[in-house]
Amino acid sequence: MPYILAIESSCDETSAAILTDGKVKSNIISSQLQHSEYGGVIPELASRLHQQQIIRVVNQALKQAEVDKRQLDAVAFTRGPGLLGALLVGTCFAKAYAFGLGIPLIEVNHMQAHVLANFLNPQPPAFPFICLTVSGGHTQLVLVRDYLDMELLGQTIDDAAGEAFDKAAKIMGLPYPGGPHIDRHARQGRRDFYNFPTPEVGAKQFSFSGLKTSMLYLLRKGLQEDPQYIEKHLDDLCASYQYRIVSILLDKLEQAALEQGVAHLAIAGGVSANSELRSRFQQLCQDRGWTAHIPAFEYCTDNAAMSGIAAHYKYLAGEFTDLSAVPFTRGGL
Ligand SMILES: Nc1ncnc2c1ncn2[C@@H]1O[C@H](COP(=O)(O)OP(=O)(O)OP(=O)(O)O)[C@@H](O)[C@H]1O
Ligand SMILES: [Mg+2]
Repeated sequence: MPYILAIESSCDETSAAILTDGKVKSNIISSQLQHSEYGGVIPELASRLHQQQIIRVVNQALKQAEVDKRQLDAVAFTRGPGLLGALLVGTCFAKAYAFGLGIPLIEVNHMQAHVLANFLNPQPPAFPFICLTVSGGHTQLVLVRDYLDMELLGQTIDDAAGEAFDKAAKIMGLPYPGGPHIDRHARQGRRDFYNFPTPEVGAKQFSFSGLKTSMLYLLRKGLQEDPQYIEKHLDDLCASYQYRIVSILLDKLEQAALEQGVAHLAIAGGVSANSELRSRFQQLCQDRGWTAHIPAFEYCTDNAAMSGIAAHYKYLAGEFTDLSAVPFTRGGL
Protein backbone atom coordinates (compact mmCIF):
# COMPACT_ATOMS: atom_id res chain seq x y z
CA MET A 1 0.00 0.00 0.00
CA PRO A 2 2.46 2.67 -1.12
CA TYR A 3 2.01 6.33 -0.22
CA ILE A 4 3.34 8.31 -3.17
CA LEU A 5 3.99 12.03 -3.64
CA ALA A 6 3.98 12.84 -7.36
CA ILE A 7 5.24 16.08 -8.87
CA GLU A 8 4.49 17.36 -12.36
CA SER A 9 6.21 20.44 -13.82
CA SER A 10 6.72 19.65 -17.52
CA CYS A 11 5.12 22.78 -18.93
CA ASP A 12 2.95 25.48 -17.36
CA GLU A 13 1.20 23.65 -14.52
CA THR A 14 2.88 23.15 -11.13
CA SER A 15 1.13 20.14 -9.69
CA ALA A 16 1.53 17.76 -6.76
CA ALA A 17 -0.59 14.77 -5.84
CA ILE A 18 -0.74 12.20 -3.08
CA LEU A 19 -1.83 8.67 -3.96
CA THR A 20 -2.27 5.88 -1.46
CA ASP A 21 -2.58 2.42 -2.93
CA GLY A 22 -3.34 3.93 -6.35
CA LYS A 23 -6.16 6.16 -5.06
CA VAL A 24 -5.93 9.92 -5.41
CA LYS A 25 -6.01 11.64 -2.00
CA SER A 26 -5.14 15.09 -3.35
CA ASN A 27 -4.26 16.66 -6.69
CA ILE A 28 -3.23 20.31 -6.47
CA ILE A 29 -2.75 22.15 -9.77
CA SER A 30 -1.38 25.67 -9.99
CA SER A 31 -1.79 26.90 -13.58
CA GLN A 32 0.53 29.64 -14.80
CA LEU A 33 -2.00 32.09 -16.20
CA GLN A 34 0.79 34.66 -16.69
CA HIS A 35 1.61 33.17 -20.11
CA SER A 36 -1.72 34.15 -21.63
CA GLU A 37 -0.63 37.74 -22.22
CA TYR A 38 2.17 36.45 -24.49
CA GLY A 39 -0.08 34.10 -26.46
CA GLY A 40 2.01 31.03 -25.56
CA VAL A 41 4.27 29.54 -22.91
CA ILE A 42 7.51 31.47 -22.23
CA PRO A 43 9.95 28.73 -21.05
CA GLU A 44 12.04 30.85 -18.67
CA LEU A 45 8.98 32.39 -17.06
CA ALA A 46 7.56 28.87 -16.63
CA SER A 47 10.70 27.74 -14.75
CA ARG A 48 10.63 30.75 -12.44
CA LEU A 49 6.95 30.33 -11.66
CA HIS A 50 7.47 26.62 -10.87
CA GLN A 51 10.23 27.65 -8.44
CA GLN A 52 7.85 30.08 -6.75
CA GLN A 53 4.98 27.63 -6.42
CA ILE A 54 6.41 24.17 -5.88
CA ILE A 55 6.83 24.18 -2.10
CA ARG A 56 3.37 25.67 -1.53
CA VAL A 57 1.78 23.17 -3.94
CA VAL A 58 3.49 20.15 -2.35
CA ASN A 59 2.59 21.27 1.18
CA GLN A 60 -1.01 21.82 0.13
CA ALA A 61 -1.17 18.34 -1.45
CA LEU A 62 0.10 16.74 1.79
CA LYS A 63 -2.29 18.81 3.90
CA GLN A 64 -5.35 18.08 1.79
CA ALA A 65 -4.53 14.35 1.77
CA GLU A 66 -3.96 14.46 5.56
CA VAL A 67 -0.66 12.69 5.01
CA ASP A 68 2.56 13.48 6.86
CA LYS A 69 5.69 13.48 4.69
CA ARG A 70 7.20 10.81 6.96
CA GLN A 71 4.43 8.43 5.82
CA LEU A 72 5.58 8.64 2.17
CA ASP A 73 7.07 5.55 0.51
CA ALA A 74 8.34 7.24 -2.68
CA VAL A 75 8.59 10.56 -4.52
CA ALA A 76 7.73 10.61 -8.23
CA PHE A 77 8.52 13.30 -10.78
CA THR A 78 8.04 13.93 -14.49
CA ARG A 79 11.41 13.35 -16.14
CA GLY A 80 10.21 14.31 -19.65
CA PRO A 81 9.26 15.15 -22.30
CA GLY A 82 8.71 18.84 -21.60
CA LEU A 83 10.51 22.16 -21.17
CA LEU A 84 14.00 21.68 -19.76
CA GLY A 85 13.95 24.46 -17.16
CA ALA A 86 10.45 23.54 -16.04
CA LEU A 87 11.35 19.84 -15.70
CA LEU A 88 14.51 20.70 -13.76
CA VAL A 89 12.48 22.38 -11.02
CA GLY A 90 10.36 19.27 -10.39
CA THR A 91 13.31 16.93 -10.83
CA CYS A 92 15.58 18.74 -8.36
CA PHE A 93 12.78 19.17 -5.86
CA ALA A 94 11.84 15.48 -6.02
CA LYS A 95 15.46 14.36 -5.67
CA ALA A 96 16.06 16.56 -2.63
CA TYR A 97 12.78 15.49 -1.01
CA ALA A 98 13.39 11.77 -1.58
CA PHE A 99 17.00 12.07 -0.44
CA GLY A 100 15.99 13.99 2.67
CA LEU A 101 13.35 11.43 3.61
CA GLY A 102 15.54 8.47 2.66
CA ILE A 103 12.91 7.01 0.31
CA PRO A 104 13.06 5.94 -3.36
CA LEU A 105 12.69 8.23 -6.34
CA ILE A 106 10.50 7.28 -9.33
CA GLU A 107 10.72 8.94 -12.74
CA VAL A 108 7.60 9.19 -14.85
CA ASN A 109 7.34 9.60 -18.61
CA HIS A 110 4.79 12.36 -19.16
CA MET A 111 3.19 10.70 -22.21
CA GLN A 112 2.78 7.39 -20.34
CA ALA A 113 1.20 9.35 -17.50
CA HIS A 114 -1.35 10.92 -19.89
CA VAL A 115 -2.30 7.40 -21.07
CA LEU A 116 -2.46 6.03 -17.51
CA ALA A 117 -4.84 8.83 -16.46
CA ASN A 118 -7.44 6.37 -17.75
CA PHE A 119 -6.65 4.16 -14.73
CA LEU A 120 -7.92 6.83 -12.38
CA ASN A 121 -11.41 6.01 -13.68
CA PRO A 122 -13.60 3.62 -11.69
CA GLN A 123 -13.80 1.40 -14.80
CA PRO A 124 -10.36 1.41 -16.43
CA PRO A 125 -9.68 -0.12 -19.86
CA ALA A 126 -8.76 -3.79 -20.25
CA PHE A 127 -5.49 -4.70 -22.01
CA PRO A 128 -4.65 -4.46 -24.80
CA PHE A 129 -6.15 -1.12 -25.77
CA ILE A 130 -5.28 1.73 -28.10
CA CYS A 131 -4.96 5.22 -26.69
CA LEU A 132 -5.11 8.38 -28.76
CA THR A 133 -3.04 10.88 -26.78
CA VAL A 134 -3.78 14.42 -27.90
CA SER A 135 -2.10 17.24 -26.03
CA GLY A 136 -0.39 20.57 -26.47
CA GLY A 137 2.87 19.04 -27.68
CA HIS A 138 1.96 15.53 -28.88
CA THR A 139 -0.48 13.54 -30.98
CA GLN A 140 0.15 9.82 -30.57
CA LEU A 141 -1.52 6.49 -31.28
CA VAL A 142 -0.34 4.13 -28.57
CA LEU A 143 -0.85 0.38 -28.27
CA VAL A 144 -1.01 -0.34 -24.53
CA ARG A 145 -0.27 -3.97 -23.67
CA ASP A 146 0.19 -3.44 -19.95
CA TYR A 147 0.58 -0.55 -17.50
CA LEU A 148 4.19 0.02 -18.44
CA ASP A 149 4.31 -1.78 -21.79
CA MET A 150 3.36 0.69 -24.52
CA GLU A 151 4.18 0.85 -28.22
CA LEU A 152 4.04 4.03 -30.25
CA LEU A 153 2.08 3.12 -33.41
CA GLY A 154 2.15 6.56 -34.98
CA GLN A 155 2.34 10.26 -34.28
CA THR A 156 2.22 13.69 -35.83
CA ILE A 157 4.86 14.66 -38.35
CA ASP A 158 4.52 18.38 -37.55
CA ASP A 159 2.14 20.21 -35.17
CA ALA A 160 0.25 18.52 -32.35
CA ALA A 161 -3.56 18.63 -32.24
CA GLY A 162 -3.44 21.03 -29.28
CA GLU A 163 -1.12 23.33 -31.22
CA ALA A 164 -3.54 23.27 -34.15
CA PHE A 165 -6.26 24.49 -31.79
CA ASP A 166 -4.06 27.08 -30.07
CA LYS A 167 -2.48 28.53 -33.22
CA ALA A 168 -5.80 28.88 -35.05
CA ALA A 169 -7.30 30.47 -31.95
CA LYS A 170 -4.43 32.94 -31.84
CA ILE A 171 -4.92 34.07 -35.44
CA MET A 172 -8.65 34.47 -34.76
CA GLY A 173 -7.75 36.71 -31.79
CA LEU A 174 -8.90 34.28 -29.06
CA PRO A 175 -6.98 34.04 -25.75
CA TYR A 176 -4.32 31.40 -24.99
CA PRO A 177 -4.79 28.48 -24.65
CA GLY A 178 -7.30 28.57 -27.46
CA GLY A 179 -8.58 24.98 -27.41
CA PRO A 180 -11.32 25.51 -24.83
CA HIS A 181 -12.40 28.77 -26.57
CA ILE A 182 -12.73 27.08 -29.96
CA ASP A 183 -14.66 24.29 -28.27
CA ARG A 184 -17.09 26.81 -26.75
CA HIS A 185 -17.65 28.82 -29.96
CA ALA A 186 -17.97 25.65 -32.05
CA ARG A 187 -21.06 24.60 -30.11
CA GLN A 188 -23.05 27.43 -31.72
CA GLY A 189 -21.50 27.16 -35.19
CA ARG A 190 -22.10 25.30 -38.46
CA ARG A 191 -19.50 22.70 -39.20
CA ASP A 192 -20.24 22.85 -42.96
CA PHE A 193 -19.39 26.58 -43.14
CA TYR A 194 -15.98 25.75 -44.62
CA ASN A 195 -14.50 22.46 -45.76
CA PHE A 196 -11.02 22.38 -44.23
CA PRO A 197 -8.71 19.91 -46.05
CA THR A 198 -7.77 16.45 -44.80
CA PRO A 199 -3.96 16.05 -44.94
CA GLU A 200 -2.55 13.22 -47.03
CA VAL A 201 -0.03 11.42 -44.82
CA GLY A 202 0.72 7.81 -43.86
CA ALA A 203 -2.02 5.67 -42.29
CA LYS A 204 -0.83 6.15 -38.72
CA GLN A 205 0.64 9.61 -39.16
CA PHE A 206 -0.98 12.94 -38.38
CA SER A 207 -0.30 16.38 -39.81
CA PHE A 208 -1.90 19.60 -38.63
CA SER A 209 0.34 22.38 -39.93
CA GLY A 210 -1.52 22.59 -43.26
CA LEU A 211 -4.83 22.98 -41.47
CA LYS A 212 -3.55 25.99 -39.57
CA THR A 213 -2.24 27.50 -42.82
CA SER A 214 -5.57 27.02 -44.57
CA MET A 215 -7.25 28.83 -41.66
CA LEU A 216 -4.76 31.68 -42.12
CA TYR A 217 -5.50 31.96 -45.88
CA LEU A 218 -9.24 31.74 -45.32
CA LEU A 219 -9.11 34.58 -42.78
CA ARG A 220 -6.87 36.73 -45.00
CA LYS A 221 -9.25 36.40 -47.91
CA GLY A 222 -12.32 36.94 -45.72
CA LEU A 223 -10.84 40.03 -44.06
CA GLN A 224 -10.00 41.58 -47.45
CA GLU A 225 -13.69 41.43 -48.34
CA ASP A 226 -15.06 42.29 -44.90
CA PRO A 227 -13.02 43.69 -41.96
CA GLN A 228 -15.63 42.18 -39.60
CA TYR A 229 -15.25 38.71 -41.16
CA ILE A 230 -13.88 36.97 -38.03
CA GLU A 231 -16.41 38.49 -35.61
CA LYS A 232 -19.30 37.66 -37.92
CA HIS A 233 -18.28 34.07 -38.56
CA LEU A 234 -16.36 33.12 -35.42
CA ASP A 235 -18.70 30.33 -34.31
CA ASP A 236 -18.86 28.81 -37.81
CA LEU A 237 -15.09 29.04 -38.30
CA CYS A 238 -14.52 27.27 -34.98
CA ALA A 239 -17.12 24.59 -35.73
CA SER A 240 -15.69 23.82 -39.19
CA TYR A 241 -12.11 23.78 -37.97
CA GLN A 242 -12.82 21.64 -34.91
CA TYR A 243 -14.92 19.25 -37.00
CA ARG A 244 -11.95 18.61 -39.29
CA ILE A 245 -9.46 18.06 -36.43
CA VAL A 246 -11.79 15.64 -34.66
CA SER A 247 -12.54 13.79 -37.93
CA ILE A 248 -8.83 13.36 -38.66
CA LEU A 249 -8.14 12.08 -35.14
CA LEU A 250 -11.03 9.62 -35.03
CA ASP A 251 -10.48 8.28 -38.58
CA LYS A 252 -6.90 7.35 -37.72
CA LEU A 253 -7.88 5.89 -34.38
CA GLU A 254 -10.58 3.77 -36.01
CA GLN A 255 -8.18 2.47 -38.67
CA ALA A 256 -5.54 1.61 -36.06
CA ALA A 257 -8.07 -0.28 -33.93
CA LEU A 258 -9.28 -2.28 -36.95
CA GLU A 259 -5.73 -3.06 -38.00
CA GLN A 260 -4.66 -4.17 -34.51
CA GLY A 261 -7.92 -6.03 -33.84
CA VAL A 262 -8.33 -4.19 -30.54
CA ALA A 263 -11.78 -3.68 -29.00
CA HIS A 264 -10.90 -1.28 -26.18
CA LEU A 265 -10.13 2.35 -26.95
CA ALA A 266 -9.10 5.35 -24.88
CA ILE A 267 -8.28 9.01 -25.36
CA ALA A 268 -6.00 11.14 -23.19
CA GLY A 269 -4.23 14.51 -22.99
CA GLY A 270 -5.54 18.06 -22.88
CA VAL A 271 -7.43 17.88 -26.18
CA SER A 272 -9.42 14.90 -24.82
CA ALA A 273 -11.27 17.59 -22.82
CA ASN A 274 -12.81 18.69 -26.15
CA SER A 275 -16.55 18.15 -26.10
CA GLU A 276 -16.90 17.16 -29.78
CA LEU A 277 -13.99 14.70 -29.55
CA ARG A 278 -15.47 13.13 -26.42
CA SER A 279 -18.95 12.72 -27.84
CA ARG A 280 -17.92 11.52 -31.33
CA PHE A 281 -15.37 9.13 -29.78
CA GLN A 282 -18.09 7.60 -27.63
CA GLN A 283 -20.41 7.36 -30.64
CA LEU A 284 -17.72 5.67 -32.75
CA CYS A 285 -17.09 3.08 -30.05
CA GLN A 286 -20.79 2.47 -29.58
CA ASP A 287 -21.30 1.96 -33.34
CA ARG A 288 -18.35 -0.45 -33.52
CA GLY A 289 -19.08 -2.32 -30.28
CA TRP A 290 -15.82 -1.12 -28.70
CA THR A 291 -15.41 0.06 -25.11
CA ALA A 292 -14.64 3.80 -24.79
CA HIS A 293 -12.48 5.26 -22.03
CA ILE A 294 -11.95 8.94 -21.30
CA PRO A 295 -10.23 10.44 -18.24
CA ALA A 296 -12.23 12.77 -16.01
CA PHE A 297 -11.77 16.43 -17.07
CA GLU A 298 -9.31 17.23 -14.27
CA TYR A 299 -7.02 14.40 -15.41
CA CYS A 300 -6.95 15.39 -19.13
CA THR A 301 -4.69 18.45 -19.00
CA ASP A 302 -1.42 18.32 -17.02
CA ASN A 303 -1.82 17.12 -13.45
CA ALA A 304 0.26 15.17 -10.93
CA ALA A 305 -2.43 12.56 -10.18
CA MET A 306 -1.76 10.89 -13.55
CA SER A 307 1.98 10.91 -12.77
CA GLY A 308 1.10 9.38 -9.42
CA ILE A 309 -0.80 6.46 -10.92
CA ALA A 310 2.10 5.82 -13.32
CA ALA A 311 4.47 5.90 -10.32
CA HIS A 312 2.19 3.53 -8.42
CA TYR A 313 2.60 0.85 -11.09
CA LYS A 314 6.34 1.51 -11.24
CA TYR A 315 6.58 1.14 -7.47
CA LEU A 316 4.79 -2.22 -7.66
CA ALA A 317 7.15 -3.28 -10.48
CA GLY A 318 10.18 -2.15 -8.43
CA GLU A 319 11.25 0.42 -11.04
CA PHE A 320 13.13 3.13 -9.18
CA THR A 321 15.35 5.96 -10.37
CA ASP A 322 18.88 6.91 -9.50
CA LEU A 323 19.55 10.32 -7.94
CA SER A 324 21.72 11.17 -10.95
CA ALA A 325 18.74 11.20 -13.36
CA VAL A 326 18.48 14.24 -15.63
CA PRO A 327 15.36 15.46 -17.51
CA PHE A 328 14.78 14.82 -21.21
CA THR A 329 12.92 17.29 -23.39
CA ARG A 330 11.81 15.23 -26.39
CA GLY A 331 11.01 11.64 -27.14
CA GLY A 332 8.28 9.05 -27.22
CA LEU A 333 7.06 6.74 -24.51
N1 LIG B 1 -11.83 21.72 -24.66
C1 LIG B 1 -10.70 21.68 -25.37
N2 LIG B 1 -10.74 21.58 -26.71
C2 LIG B 1 -9.60 21.53 -27.45
N3 LIG B 1 -8.37 21.62 -26.92
C3 LIG B 1 -8.28 21.73 -25.59
C4 LIG B 1 -9.43 21.75 -24.74
N4 LIG B 1 -8.99 21.87 -23.45
C5 LIG B 1 -7.64 21.91 -23.50
N5 LIG B 1 -7.20 21.82 -24.78
C6 LIG B 1 -5.83 21.89 -25.28
O1 LIG B 1 -5.02 21.00 -24.56
C7 LIG B 1 -3.66 21.46 -24.66
C8 LIG B 1 -2.99 21.32 -23.29
O2 LIG B 1 -2.97 19.95 -22.97
P1 LIG B 1 -1.85 19.33 -22.05
O3 LIG B 1 -1.80 20.11 -20.78
O4 LIG B 1 -2.11 17.89 -21.96
O5 LIG B 1 -0.63 19.59 -23.00
P2 LIG B 1 0.87 19.91 -22.69
O6 LIG B 1 1.21 19.32 -21.38
O7 LIG B 1 1.08 21.36 -22.92
O8 LIG B 1 1.60 19.09 -23.82
P3 LIG B 1 2.34 17.65 -23.70
O9 LIG B 1 1.55 16.85 -22.74
O10 LIG B 1 2.30 17.15 -25.09
O11 LIG B 1 3.70 17.97 -23.21
C9 LIG B 1 -3.71 22.88 -25.15
O12 LIG B 1 -3.27 22.89 -26.49
C10 LIG B 1 -5.20 23.23 -25.06
O13 LIG B 1 -5.63 24.17 -26.01
MG1 LIG C 1 0.84 17.25 -20.93
